Amino acid sequence: MKRTVLITGGAGFIGSHVIRLFVNKYPDYQIINLDALTYAGNLENLTDVEKAPNYRFIRMDIRNKEAINDLFDQQPIDGILHLAAESHVDRSIAEPMAFIETNIIGTVNLLNAARNQWKGNYEGKRFYHISTDEVYGSLGEEGHFYEITSYDPRSPYSASKASSDHLVRAYHHTYGLPIVITNCSNNYGPNQFPEKLIPLSIHNMVNMKPIPIYGKGENIRDWLYVEDHARAIDLVFHKGMIGETYNIGGHNEWKNIDLIRLLCSILDRKLNRDSGTSAGLITYVTDRAGHDLRYAIDASKIRQELGWEPSLQFAEGLEKTVDWYLSNSEWMERVTSGEYQTYYESMYRNR
Ligand code: NAD
Ligand code: TYD
Repeated sequence: MKRTVLITGGAGFIGSHVIRLFVNKYPDYQIINLDALTYAGNLENLTDVEKAPNYRFIRMDIRNKEAINDLFDQQPIDGILHLAAESHVDRSIAEPMAFIETNIIGTVNLLNAARNQWKGNYEGKRFYHISTDEVYGSLGEEGHFYEITSYDPRSPYSASKASSDHLVRAYHHTYGLPIVITNCSNNYGPNQFPEKLIPLSIHNMVNMKPIPIYGKGENIRDWLYVEDHARAIDLVFHKGMIGETYNIGGHNEWKNIDLIRLLCSILDRKLNRDSGTSAGLITYVTDRAGHDLRYAIDASKIRQELGWEPSLQFAEGLEKTVDWYLSNSEWMERVTSGEYQTYYESMYRNR
């Protein structure tokens, strides 16, 4: 079937894996990647598909209502996969406003543009909003997040994502917009910007720099390999029920300190270092303000209704991730030069 699919945030970490999957798997779709190319967007992530006949890139900021409206006036669109966002909790603590503007207002700009174009004729149309498990807040030592868990966001990032989720649902209930939402746990894998725990730690290990662990390193995250998330997104886009929410997670909970110790041992082996060399870089630093203790997803609904399961064990996924970063050191060099140095200084200097 011929379809035009707009993917926002396609030059970022998860978006680039979604673009690659869709461009290769659906040659009949016209895939449009709309991305503002903020510090987190990088077209180098997409060099293998950039010349594909069914792929087109548009540099555009979703905060720019006029530009978004002009695009939707000119270009019929069947499906939207909305991933563009400010995505890093620490940046949201330092400067929340960009999160309000992009994650909330940018999302509403897209909802309005879709609504204006589709004008109540929703046959074959779909607005898919990609969100995070962080909207549910923080768990104690027990329990999981379900689709019906009440929202309790606790960082400016998660509050902005929660707000956008509410607005997407409101457009469904009020205007009948055909929406679907997924809330996913922490992703890891190739092409993740080294502000997030795993790539930042790999970069510091390689360069024999301190590995900053917030607080006691006892916070727990549920990690999912990015290609498994992209597969789930493909499934939900095509088979998910309109108006529904699906949780996506890896059933793979790790304390930060245990994860980093495992990563250290992988790096020592791959770099032929004495065992314990990388772990010697672990440095406990001041905790993140309002640091959520634990996230854990119950992904039974997507498993039972759509047949999705994570495919990779964590040890295997981490090996693949480390291999990718070690063999793409130029990518890492380029994204950590310039502005990154200023970011790193301001975020870690006084911790
Ligand atoms: P990312 O920061 O790597 O990429 C975000 C992309 O959005 C970048 O390419 C950036 O240029 C683009 N962007 C940012 N602001 C924009 C704007 N105003 N207009 C247009 N483009 C803009 O993020 P990611 O980790 O790939 O996350 C993608 C989505 O998935 C986000 O919505 C995030 O909330 C969600 N999510 C992420 C995770 C995770 O672990 N990374 C987990 C669950 C959900
Ligand atoms: P992060 O990758 O920023 O994802 P999120 O905050 O969205 O879960 O952080 C993952 C965990 O690692 C989180 O508990 C915070 C912690 N962390 C550190 O201990 N040190 C760091 O330098 C970073 C970036 C994160």
